[in-house]
Amino acid sequence: MRIGIPKEQDGGQTLVAGTPDTVKKLIGLGYDVAVETGAGEAASFPDADYTAAGASVVDGGDIWSCDIVTCLDTPSAENIALMRRGSTLIARMNPAANPALVQLLAERGITGLAIDVIPRISRAQSMDVRSSMANVGGYRAVIEAASAFGRLFTGQVTAAGKMPPARVYIIGVGVAGLAAIGTAKSMGAIVSATDVRADVADQVRSLDAEFVAIPVVQQSDDGYAKAMTSDQEKLAQQVYAEQAKHSDIVITTAQIPGKKPPVLLTASAVAAMKPGSVIVDMSAGANGGNCELTRADECFRTENGVTIIGFTDLARRLPGQSSQLYGQNIMNFFKLATPEKNGQLTLDENDDVIRGVTVALDGAVMWPPPAVKVSAAPSSTASPASSAEVRKTSEANADAKSANAAHAAQTDAASARSESPKKNAADSHASTPASAFKRWWWKIALSVAGLALVFAAPEELAGHFFVFELACVAGFYVITNVTHALHTPLMSVTNAISGIIVIGALLQIGSSNPVVAGIAFVAALLASINIFGGFLVTRRMLGMFQRSSEE
Ligand code: NAI
Repeated sequence: MRIGIPKEQDGGQTLVAGTPDTVKKLIGLGYDVAVETGAGEAASFPDADYTAAGASVVDGGDIWSCDIVTCLDTPSAENIALMRRGSTLIARMNPAANPALVQLLAERGITGLAIDVIPRISRAQSMDVRSSMANVGGYRAVIEAASAFGRLFTGQVTAAGKMPPARVYIIGVGVAGLAAIGTAKSMGAIVSATDVRADVADQVRSLDAEFVAIPVVQQSDDGYAKAMTSDQEKLAQQVYAEQAKHSDIVITTAQIPGKKPPVLLTASAVAAMKPGSVIVDMSAGANGGNCELTRADECFRTENGVTIIGFTDLARRLPGQSSQLYGQNIMNFFKLATPEKNGQLTLDENDDVIRGVTVALDGAVMWPPPAVKVSAAPSSTASPASSAEVRKTSEANADAKSANAAHAAQTDAASARSESPKKNAADSHASTPASAFKRWWWKIALSVAGLALVFAAPEELAGHFFVFELACVAGFYVITNVTHALHTPLMSVTNAISGIIVIGALLQIGSSNPVVAGIAFVAALLASINIFGGFLVTRRMLGMFQRSSEE
């Protein structure tokens, strides 16, 4: 089959649906690829690079007669009219908002694959164009903020004086928010973030940022937020306003599927912000934005010196990277739909991902697809920590201390959270003597046995036994207090200790006492396995961070 990649028709579109790299991979799947002259120009992919990758560079008309056409934005009706019956269109279609387009494709006998509605399940992540664009957008939002901000992001102490780090506050921790947190952190800023979905708190902390709880918390079944009531909105706005007042940069990304973006920052919140601070409203658009004052596609300064950026083309501002990600998403979809690698698109309706994007097939409208359970859906019960966090924050707000109290409550919740679940469980058990005995008996028994061993041992060994027992106790508490995520690196690093065992064993292995020699041999063998095993584990871990040659 022949895939056509047209030059995008919207003059402002800088992206292209395939790059020389992804085109080469499509050819590897058995397809012929045709690229319209100048299609990759705005993204710095010259025609010659496509030719070198194995594609043919053709004029516009020829593209639309290909078996499959893949592009960014939905083509015009005139271009759809140029497509053949039985051909396939892969593009972002927003089918929920464009039923007429879906109908047109069905009537024309064109198979419509709306790549922007790919189900948000783990298996489909590599094809998720919305995530790719949001990721680049989140990065670019920080760059735009940094360029409008009159200071450095990172704190420094220089001969000329001290520079404080910038404070960045991010509202909405979906894909874009997480990308913005990572970028701002890597630039040295102090970052905090808020989301109405409490289950993202751990993700925020995993990026070394602070999670600021709001008094409204939602448990979402599908990973998306829901609209708040106006009372809830007001409570949340108090937190946003208070945080924004103390921040240099505020980046907002909040969206509610199928609704206008929620207003998070009111005009009075902006008026209370410091002169020189910057707001990047990533939800800016024809339907408004997250800031009451946002103007879509504009960057302006308010009377009190706050810069508000409402660019709607953040991903387009990095066309090379965005095109590569989009093209790779499309390529991954082709990989799924070309199991035989024979250049034939196979649409298996039983596959959730393929069915999820199919909006028109064989003359029939296929939208909407059956619901798919998204992998982003959190567990139905909030973690004990997040419930505590919510309760404390709500109480604080009910106390009419509003956002200040919410912040304090968040700090309380953070310290409460830092207590391990084990400790909380232990505390709750401590209430009955029977449960206390259950927890302590084996520790008491071991201590008595250890002391008995020390007293019963010959005088020259008693000291060694005592040191050994103390080492066991210290080791137990050190290891059990290391977070699980660090167990593997810790084990591979502490394998150095095995080296000491090997030296001790080698010194004893030549002993004339066969028992001593045997024990020395076993010790050397086990310690060596531990050392080399450690190297192998470390190598495997490092391998996880290396790019494969395919990427
Ligand atoms: P989005 O663009 O729909 O919204 C951005 C964020 O704003 C969300 O986290 C939302 O909870 C938050 N938000 C909305 N209203 C808010 C308010 N008033 N105050 C504070 N925060 C508010 O989000 P995106 O990036 O599309 O992600 C949506 C979900 O999909 C997430 O759960 C994400 O983890 C999941 N996902 C799953 C993928 C997969 O498994 N293939 C791929 C990408 C995302």
